[in-house]
Amino acid sequence: MEKTIIKEYVSKRLGFQKMETAEIVNALNKTLCTYQVFFHKLQSFHWNVVGSDFLDVHDITQDMYEKGLREIDDIAERIRVFGQNPEVSISAYLRNSIVEETSHEKSAEYMMYEIIGDIEKLTETMFEVHEKASKNGDVGTIYMCNKMIKDLETYHWKLSAWTSRKFE
Ligand SMILES: [Fe+2]
Repeated sequence: MEKTIIKEYVSKRLGFQKMETAEIVNALNKTLCTYQVFFHKLQSFHWNVVGSDFLDVHDITQDMYEKGLREIDDIAERIRVFGQNPEVSISAYLRNSIVEETSHEKSAEYMMYEIIGDIEKLTETMFEVHEKASKNGDVGTIYMCNKMIKDLETYHWKLSAWTSRKFE
């Protein structure tokens, strides 16, 4: 008896139609591509920062890219849950990302500013995913987005607080 109930529950929750998941998957892929470019930028800043703020930038970028790696994996696997394929090519990442590549020749302060702007862009893509998922009753994707957005907002606050001291 109990088994039947569980089966019905799973079937109902994973019973998305292809057209419903198409817009969720498109939005997820845009987030994935944006996150991949952002991830590489964080690593670039982690490796190339110099100066008296070295440790601040070096440490927080590592924290962010390690978390980013796990979240990129979650996003790609969510796409697979829907039976679709995540983008895998570097060219697709660059084409679809709303975060732009960067050069390594920047001050620590400018790196932090750039990361703040990129967090805003990445969060924007996640709100888009959230909106499509909400429209289609996709609770699993909403749950995934909520946590990612909340954590990015915390990073945004920390980096904004860090940069504000530069103008005191
Ligand atoms: Fe490192």
